[in-house]
Amino acid sequence: MPAELSPDTARTAVESSFPRIRAELDRLVRIPSVSAAGFDARHVRRSARAVARWLTDSGFSDVRLLEVDGAHPAVYGTVRGPAGSPRLLLYAHHDVQPPGPADLWDSPPFEPAERDGRLFGRGTADDKAGIAVHAAAVQAWAGRPPLDVAVFIEGEEETGSTHLPEFLSAYKHLLHADAIVIADCSNWAIGEPTLITSLRGIADCVVEVRTLDHAVHSGKYGGPVPDAITVLCRLIATLHDAAGNVAVRGLHTGALPAVSMDESRLRQVVGLRPDVHFLGDGALSERIWARPAVAVLGIDAPPVAGAAHKIVPWARAGISVRLAPGDDAERAFLALEEHLRCHAPWNAEVTVTQDHRSEPHHIDASGPAFDAFRRACADTWGCAPVEAGSGGSLPLVAALAEAYPDMALLLTGVDDPDSKAHSENESVHLGELKQCCVNEALLLGYLAAEIR
Ligand code: BES
Ligand code: MN
Repeated sequence: MPAELSPDTARTAVESSFPRIRAELDRLVRIPSVSAAGFDARHVRRSARAVARWLTDSGFSDVRLLEVDGAHPAVYGTVRGPAGSPRLLLYAHHDVQPPGPADLWDSPPFEPAERDGRLFGRGTADDKAGIAVHAAAVQAWAGRPPLDVAVFIEGEEETGSTHLPEFLSAYKHLLHADAIVIADCSNWAIGEPTLITSLRGIADCVVEVRTLDHAVHSGKYGGPVPDAITVLCRLIATLHDAAGNVAVRGLHTGALPAVSMDESRLRQVVGLRPDVHFLGDGALSERIWARPAVAVLGIDAPPVAGAAHKIVPWARAGISVRLAPGDDAERAFLALEEHLRCHAPWNAEVTVTQDHRSEPHHIDASGPAFDAFRRACADTWGCAPVEAGSGGSLPLVAALAEAYPDMALLLTGVDDPDSKAHSENESVHLGELKQCCVNEALLLGYLAAEIR
């Protein structure tokens, strides 16, 4: 194998293997590898085995499942480059979000379906396409890449990578590398590749309010006796000011992003109803990448249908706070907890339980590994990547930066603004997936040349 693939050779290789890549992706999407509690964990294990087989067929050797007590399995494999090569780690995850309401999908979530050049199904974009890119890149080199490559496909990213510290300590020697390609982020637009330079963090909690020992008749006692749903709603309402800015004190704001976002495009992508306002003020890119955000993810309270005329004694909500780069997840959780305790109306009882957490992270995208990525994008798409922040979170990133301070973190992915990751009708753009495969095949060669 030559030390570099030319753009033409890389494209020809990806073109010829793409039908197989597509077939393997279909096969993987058919496995409902939902990592969330309450879903059958055996499917996640099945998907780990399917990934292992795919990686082996693509040229990786000694592919195996990595296990940690109580965790969904991850998949690991390596393939050696020439002696003395630098080492590259490839990351994606094989678990997916729950599908949500079946009737909101235009085709069943775990039956891959192609429409208008996109492949629909849960996990097509987030993040089974990431696995496809890694498999295709190594396959393009006929299993003989120009540098040492290891692959780590996580099985519980969508549930917050809860066992990541255990994976990192049990397998520290396996996960070490000079650079990592994390194929789990999103692109600016089709045809506009993106190098993600920051991620937000997460400080989630469940807040429960209680006003009574037990429910009571709402006619007999209603008036002075507070119901817990009203209390919860008033408490939730204190999390934003009237303009929609986050009102929790003590959360950090990051630097103003250089890239700006088009408001009408954003309205269209998220499907904001015509008369509804965006929350807060300031540049949209700042609000999404560099400032905290609060969202209520769910509420437990009696459902409307069948609700009796009684005063509800307790209610709870899942609250998710996204953190700006530069913030600290533990400190942010304490600020949130303090806010919720101090703002309980009518002195209602409040219990706050910590949930997911992820450190935000900022990346200095300078150095040879990042330049190799820029060069690959120029050859694949004919343009430099957009260098942008992201509102999403990946617990792995800050953890890797801490464990391996010298590792270059290349955050890329296949997802585009119309992918609808986490929502109904998730899809991946097949033309862009192919481009991402070509790009990563080229990247292997450019990294081999530039990071030693
Ligand atoms: N792929 C996303 C994260 C992402 C999305 C990064 C867009 C960059 C751009 C990932 O699978 C995800 O959804 N992560 C969770 C993490 C949480 C469970 C701790 C998230 O951000 O909600
Ligand atoms: Mn993902």
